[in-house]
Amino acid sequence: MKTRVTELLGIEYPIVQGGMMWVGRAELASAVSNAGGLGTLTALTQPSPEDLLKEIQRCRDMTDKPFAVNLTFLPAINPPPYAEYRQAIIESGVKIVETAGNKPQEHIEDFKKHHITVLHKCTSVRHALSAQRMGADIISIDGFECAGHPGEDDIPGLILIPAAADQVKIPLIASGGFADGRGLVAALALGAEGINMGTRFCMTQEAPIHEKIKQYYLNQDERSTNLIFRKFRNTTRVAKNSISDLVVELSQKPDIQFEEIRPYVSGAKGRMALETGDVDAGLLSAGQVLGLIHDIPSCHDLIQGIMTEAHEIIQQRLNRLID
Ligand SMILES: Cc1cc2nc3c(=O)[nH]c(=O)nc-3n(C[C@H](O)[C@H](O)[C@H](O)COP(=O)(O)O)c2cc1C
Repeated sequence: MKTRVTELLGIEYPIVQGGMMWVGRAELASAVSNAGGLGTLTALTQPSPEDLLKEIQRCRDMTDKPFAVNLTFLPAINPPPYAEYRQAIIESGVKIVETAGNKPQEHIEDFKKHHITVLHKCTSVRHALSAQRMGADIISIDGFECAGHPGEDDIPGLILIPAAADQVKIPLIASGGFADGRGLVAALALGAEGINMGTRFCMTQEAPIHEKIKQYYLNQDERSTNLIFRKFRNTTRVAKNSISDLVVELSQKPDIQFEEIRPYVSGAKGRMALETGDVDAGLLSAGQVLGLIHDIPSCHDLIQGIMTEAHEIIQQRLNRLID
């Protein structure tokens, strides 16, 4: 299947693994790239730019296919040294970057100056258009269903993807809620030229996530996420567990301050949950697509399955409709 996305990224299938804090490590990124998709390392998962350089080398040792590095800009009291991470990515010679989050301009411009293909992920048409103006090569448009940060507009993919396709000139990747061949065909029909998946790739053999968390997710459905941090204009979609239920409950207090919630929600606690398998140790980003995930395949089998299903739908089911 050839689209502008496969051509620009130099990949076989129009399937991208989005950056994922604590999960986007060399094991997963290389497995996705080896399977013909685009794997992505998550820069800020590494404690320093030097560690990121080592992780990029580790990924190169595991695949000779293209892979990307994600750099995410989020509101923070003590922001990480973004410019230093950016410099490390440029020095590493990686050719594709996924940017996400607030005010990406200086970063996109610098990556473009160094001839890096920039895929910018965002959650609104207006942000997609401004990233296009900044020089991004591809937009990943993330619907309200998505894991992590769906933004504050609450527009689901069924509206957001075609709304973006109507206005964005550069190639579009549909993100949020994708798990199978049906989703890929739907994304293509809506005007996208590929799909980006997060939660589905967490549920693969190669994802560096404790087996108990994967088993927990297998028993969840499309109602199993919580939206938190809306009050702080930093809405985040996470799996339901005792911590996210507590945050939802605390957030109902009209005068709640972030300081009251902070002890429960640190990134370190989320990391501990993923690594130890203790589901209630912290927050776990996950999307509503949990309702469509019923197995834990290898990345190779997952991607092959998606492509086989997509071909069957296009060649048989849809084709029959117009015979
Ligand atoms: C565990 C996890 C961590 C994530 N961390 C990040 C991140 O650090 N930066 C980012 O841009 N997106 C992050 N995301 C979002 C994904 O890259 C992707 O956009 C999203 O998962 C798509 O929605 P889906 O889960 O329905 O496929 C994360 C998603 C998950 C599941």
